[in-house]
Amino acid sequence: MRFFFLGISICFLWSFPGLIKADTDLGKRRAAQACAACHGVQGISMAPRTPHLAGQDPDYLMEQLRNYRSGKRAHEVMAVIARSLSEQDLEAVASWYGSNRITLEKAD
Ligand code: HEC
Repeated sequence: MRFFFLGISICFLWSFPGLIKADTDLGKRRAAQACAACHGVQGISMAPRTPHLAGQDPDYLMEQLRNYRSGKRAHEVMAVIARSLSEQDLEAVASWYGSNRITLEKAD
């Protein structure tokens, strides 16, 4: 019986990092499939009138994605896209884009 509980707690701890930190590998794959045409795989936008997502706070990105889903932030294309992915996929994508570092060069 003691081993049974030990087994349960090990499984629980094993799954814990996944609960805390969204899966950036999954996020990169989903970004390549669903977002890259406009925002780029790394989050540097490829299209006009499309914001860069690289280096942006993942919580901010998730908030926007939820707002597109609910209609609080209105944009036809982003609403359809945000509704087509699961919450877990969106968390992963937000984590992936947020993890990409950007550097600035001084403009002349
Ligand atoms: C067809 C092009 C297109 C695709 C594909 C696309 N987006 Fe967007 N995205 C846009 C445009 C255009 C905007 C600006 C919308 C606005 O004005 O609110 C935007 C805005 C956003 C914003 C808000 C950024 C900010 O600075 O507030 C987030 C977050 C976002 N997209 C995430 C995603 C994610 C994640 C995916 C893939 C699951 C994705 N987008 C796919 C075109 C696209």
